[in-house]
Amino acid sequence: MSSKRILVTGGSGFIGSALVKRLLREGASVRVLDDNSRGRPRRLADVEKDIEFVGGDIRNFDTVLAAARNMDEVHHLAYVNGTEFFYSQPELVLDVGVKGMIHVIDACRRHGIGTLILASSSEVYQTPPHIPTDETAPLVVPDPMNPRFSYGGGKIISELLAINYGRKFFDRVLIFRPHNVYGPDMGFEHVLPQFALRMKKAVAENPSGPVPFTIQGTGQETRSFCFVDDLVEGVIVMRAKGAHLNIYHVGTLEELSIADLARRVAAHAGRELDLKTSEKLAGSTDRRCPDISKLAALGYKPAVPLAQGLPPTIDWYWGHEHLAPKS
Ligand SMILES: NC(=O)c1ccc[n+]([C@@H]2O[C@H](COP(=O)([O-])OP(=O)(O)OC[C@H]3O[C@@H](n4cnc5c(N)ncnc54)[C@H](O)[C@@H]3O)[C@@H](O)[C@H]2O)c1
Repeated sequence: MSSKRILVTGGSGFIGSALVKRLLREGASVRVLDDNSRGRPRRLADVEKDIEFVGGDIRNFDTVLAAARNMDEVHHLAYVNGTEFFYSQPELVLDVGVKGMIHVIDACRRHGIGTLILASSSEVYQTPPHIPTDETAPLVVPDPMNPRFSYGGGKIISELLAINYGRKFFDRVLIFRPHNVYGPDMGFEHVLPQFALRMKKAVAENPSGPVPFTIQGTGQETRSFCFVDDLVEGVIVMRAKGAHLNIYHVGTLEELSIADLARRVAAHAGRELDLKTSEKLAGSTDRRCPDISKLAALGYKPAVPLAQGLPPTIDWYWGHEHLAPKS
């Protein structure tokens, strides 16, 4: 379909690496820019010879400029992801988010690159006003004092930059807002990997009876988990058919409570749960489920239900506990 030359920033990340592999299958030639702060070379090991990898920091303009040379498109995914970092390193989240976006735009302009795809996030809504949430819901930073909003704030700034520079200087700017993407090797700083690893330990410590398991919040909070292959499919559909300066949700409509998620992880270990609840983190939202009809109208249809995507994800974490960062 495409012999385009594409730079993927954040390309050794969880989503980036899956996108890189799909773009290669689509016939693109791919260059990756990543500092491997959270990117992992193992994710690209099977396509190592088919891509060009540039190790470097998106905050260094010369690095970005060199990486973008001779490219037709840039897919900008580099960002500091992982909920715990929003609280512990909000200044870094913004530094990488804002400088990264400006550098990508400036590099595209210098090289005359007309196509830019940006990964934004469902976190731009914080607490969405309605569920399912469509792309017209207002973007909000409820409290600048709460470090959590560094992540969503940085994404709002990135969108503003992409759209307003896009209007004047680009042929095609497309933005996707992923909603809770999951899959094997998705990083360790997310609810699902943490549940998988804590459950393994709790099961081992409690060989019989319901497994005691504490979760943050009431357990009634919901999320709609989208398997990484479905996310990539959504980006590919958007890239093929999306309209300039448009924003698309990518996710699924399969909304479930965090308590149910914990029960499903326990069920995968063949166990029942003695669920205990606790205080929720300041700034975390009660419900999240995207309205995906805008992308569905272009042909997008998620194909992997949680029942199919969850088992291999849990198994990956049970088999790769040794890769977890040592705290
Ligand atoms: N995973 C999700 O559910 C989700 C949801 C909404 C939005 N997103 C967005 O999608 C994109 C990809 O997310 P992901 O889950 O693959 O996260 P990830 O952390 O696995 O990938 C981000 C990549 O950016 C790289 N990076 C970070 N700082 C950098 C820097 N200074 N210079 C160069 N590279 C740097 C990291 O090393 C990593 O490989 C991000 O923009 C993220 O905000 C993800």
